[in-house]
Amino acid sequence: MKCVKECQGEVNAPPCGVDRPSYLKDFWTYDECCTELYASRKGDDAAEAGVPDDFKCTHTDPDLRTAIERLITDSERELIPKYLRLGFHDCVGGCDGCVDLKNPDNNGLLEPIEEIAPIVEVFKNKYSRADVWAMATMVSAQMSLGKLDDDGKFVIEAPDGITFPLSHVGRKDCEGANAMGIGGPKVEMPSNDLDTHGLLDFFSDEFNFNASEAVAIMGAHSVAIASRTNVGFGNLGKEEGWVCHAEEYILNNRFYSMLVGEDGDLVNSAPNWTQEFVNNTEGIEFVDEETNETEALGPGIPNRYQWFNTDKCDDEERPIMTNADMALVRDFSGHISVDENGTPGKVNCTFKEDEGEGEDIRRRRGLRFGISAQNIPEACPIASETIDIVSEYKEDNEGFLHDFQAVLEKMVENGYEVKGNVLYPIDN
Ligand code: HEM
Repeated sequence: MKCVKECQGEVNAPPCGVDRPSYLKDFWTYDECCTELYASRKGDDAAEAGVPDDFKCTHTDPDLRTAIERLITDSERELIPKYLRLGFHDCVGGCDGCVDLKNPDNNGLLEPIEEIAPIVEVFKNKYSRADVWAMATMVSAQMSLGKLDDDGKFVIEAPDGITFPLSHVGRKDCEGANAMGIGGPKVEMPSNDLDTHGLLDFFSDEFNFNASEAVAIMGAHSVAIASRTNVGFGNLGKEEGWVCHAEEYILNNRFYSMLVGEDGDLVNSAPNWTQEFVNNTEGIEFVDEETNETEALGPGIPNRYQWFNTDKCDDEERPIMTNADMALVRDFSGHISVDENGTPGKVNCTFKEDEGEGEDIRRRRGLRFGISAQNIPEACPIASETIDIVSEYKEDNEGFLHDFQAVLEKMVENGYEVKGNVLYPIDN
């Protein structure tokens, strides 16, 4: 009767014939546990007839964190970026355990929502769905700390003092979503084409983040993959993201190394970036590198402008950035607009000055070809409020991780205040 023992407090009992995913095999729902305990006291027939409401079951305190760790391990760590992103999207407008999948900005979040649904179910008498999702966000950050060993195997290695606990619970689930958390209120996500002030204002208004916190949270893109078939960014058929070897899912300061150069020469020694138009017209065919199958772009994905880089990674990788990422180091205000076909985010300045060509040369060249000097792209102005913070994080990985830990915790408590160790919604 090990199952009963678990009900009374012993952990890691076997599943007693209950069919559930391998990562949940040791965990019980409250109802299953109660029925088992009642059957052991009153017999199977009585239990089958139903457990009376006044029968008290001591619920176990199975470890939610362990269940999520197993889920992520089973996915070969592929769910790490997905729960970090889900945590962000859920917490815009207050963390409430639901996401409106009709909003195309949330494309790609169905998978992590579905994968965690059985865990939500098992723990539903103890934790809200929003608490479970927040835990998944923190566990993902924890599991992304480490490095590859000589055989290319990921080894967890957290710098001293860097852990990602879920410090508080008590988040309330939204109304109007289904049991998995799909639906609920319509929440607008930030534009991918924010300029520096837009980005800082968004994080300040929504999360009460200062400029350093805004820079730190964007470092989450060090583990991110851009899937063109989701939101329209990235390289077709490739598993590439914002940094070299993004698919290693390692959280560190390499996102910042993509954006600035050496101290004292932040601009010229930085990797170079070029903006490109991204055509997401339905039906464009491509070969998926992972499956080797030919696929076609589906409907409804908007055309985009993104930045790409070809001088930083060893292989033929081609990392990307959105305008909102780039806004951490370049100030696009007055330089960004909607193009003639209605695609937003077109920038009319370049990441660096043309190599070997200063202002004078460009002007002279313009005159020679009869082009107005105004029409020759100039280098974009520096984002003076944030570029030095980017550089600090590039130079100090532990400092970054330390700040990232604090800001991620603040993010997953958005919309709540802590009273006596429990979260209470802030009344607006
Ligand atoms: C203005 C702010 C932001 C913008 C415009 C933005 C934009 C994007 C875009 C376009 C994608 C690609 C989605 C896909 O292809 O599936 C993405 C992925 C991602 N974002 Fe952000 N993001 C922002 C902030 C954040 C923040 C604050 C976090 C985390 C705390 C975050 C974490 C991620 C992660 C982990 C992914 C990768 C998801 C995956 O690999 O499946 N982002 N973001």
